[in-house]
Amino acid sequence: MAATTHSAAALRVLQITDSHLGEQAGERLLNLDTDQSLAAVIDLIAQEQSGCDLLLATGDIANHASVAAYQRFQKLTQYIAPETLWLPGNHDDPELMAQALGQPLVKSATFGNWLIIMLDSTARGQVGGSFTEQELSYLQQQLNEAADHHVLICLHHHPVDIGCAWLDEQRVSNAADFFKLVDGCPQVRGIVWGHVHQQLDTQRKGVQLMSTPSSCVQFAPASERFKLDRLNPGYRWLDLHADGRISTGISRVTLSFDIHYDNADGY
Ligand SMILES: [Fe+2]
Repeated sequence: MAATTHSAAALRVLQITDSHLGEQAGERLLNLDTDQSLAAVIDLIAQEQSGCDLLLATGDIANHASVAAYQRFQKLTQYIAPETLWLPGNHDDPELMAQALGQPLVKSATFGNWLIIMLDSTARGQVGGSFTEQELSYLQQQLNEAADHHVLICLHHHPVDIGCAWLDEQRVSNAADFFKLVDGCPQVRGIVWGHVHQQLDTQRKGVQLMSTPSSCVQFAPASERFKLDRLNPGYRWLDLHADGRISTGISRVTLSFDIHYDNADGY
């Protein structure tokens, strides 16, 4: 359910993930025009949201990394919030993303008393996630300097098993090293990711863990092998409260799409 009102004291953040845009507008994934489904999600946001502070794009913006796809995504999402932060997914190329943005990817930012950290969990040529030593050092440094800020960590891959055997093989491989750092910093309030094309809301040691529907096709929870879900594309909203609480939910479009649900070959 969408929250259409929010406390002025809270930071309203939206997340769009796994748009899988083709190089050309109108390219299809399992017969779904991914530009069209992203546009439908953006229309839904326009109907439901106002006064958003920040948009997070958590990877797989493009289906095959291209400057043209990133430029289209930027154009389509530019009016959602005054600030937008991107991080790469396994289908993306951070250099091409930076090229499209005209500046390097921003890896952290503070908004009020919240620190948002954008991590790169991708390994070139790999579908699954992992953190380099450098990325973990960056996280450690950011957490050391968080001071009295509450922290939201964003990444592409899931750092915990989600109960889909085929996706759990792609989980961040060195998640234990990641959680060692997280567990050492009580200011971390939430961790949010994409990649799994399904909603998950759970907790780990008092930290909210969240995954979010894709703006294109959805994957079925509790599936052994690749399996599509018939749920619709959507987005997540998060209210980051000044006291460190997070209120959150997802909202999905109500259009119907002609998706080839039984054909995994096109993915
Ligand atoms: Fe992905």
